[in-house]
Amino acid sequence: MSKNRVNSVDSADPAAPDLTLRGVQVFRGWLDAADQAALVEDLRNVAQAAPLFSPMTPYGKPMRVRMTSAGRKGWVSDRRGYRYADRHPGGGDWPPIPKRVLDIWHGITGLDRMPDCCLINYYDAGARMGLHQDRDEADFAWPVVSVSLGDDGLFRVGNLTRGGTTESLWLSSGDVVVMGGAARLIYHGIDRIRPGSSTLLPQGGRINLTLRVVD
Ligand code: SIN
Ligand code: MN
Repeated sequence: MSKNRVNSVDSADPAAPDLTLRGVQVFRGWLDAADQAALVEDLRNVAQAAPLFSPMTPYGKPMRVRMTSAGRKGWVSDRRGYRYADRHPGGGDWPPIPKRVLDIWHGITGLDRMPDCCLINYYDAGARMGLHQDRDEADFAWPVVSVSLGDDGLFRVGNLTRGGTTESLWLSSGDVVVMGGAARLIYHGIDRIRPGSSTLLPQGGRINLTLRVVD
């Protein structure tokens, strides 16, 4: 899990991406098949303690993805808005972020400060995620790291403000994306997934992990 290492002024030992799209860094195949399978097992344990739920947007529309979180904070959405919560909507603490996930964060960013939240999004065959910014965190100096597992997802990247042209690329199982620096607040989303493109998840679909420092 430590290919492509180079030095940079931003952190002690960050990794070098395979490609950059509008400042968004893409690390192809960061996780091999064995890493991916082990990670899915970790996530199953998280979802057993903190079950996936279907959030509402603040506008009263159900979101197409199901989600849960691990970490000190979990990301939730309902009529009161988008925010971080100390507890699962059904009650109970969020489980700790699995070590394997923290290792991805550290291996990619080189940062010693660990994320507070690992948001787990599950996309079934028809799920998508509209263009949005990740902006519920206190300090945008910390990067966002995002891990793709299972079926391919068509990732769309826009601009730092709403509107304008966009560009897309397919993310595959094991790819890791970083939105940091000037791209920290870039608009992004998932147009659709490609059902059946991966055999990692027996029931199909796509999992995305989003790792963030919250406060
Ligand atoms: C998100 O930005 O919330 C999810 C991105 C992804 O699923 O790759
Ligand atoms: Mn996002």
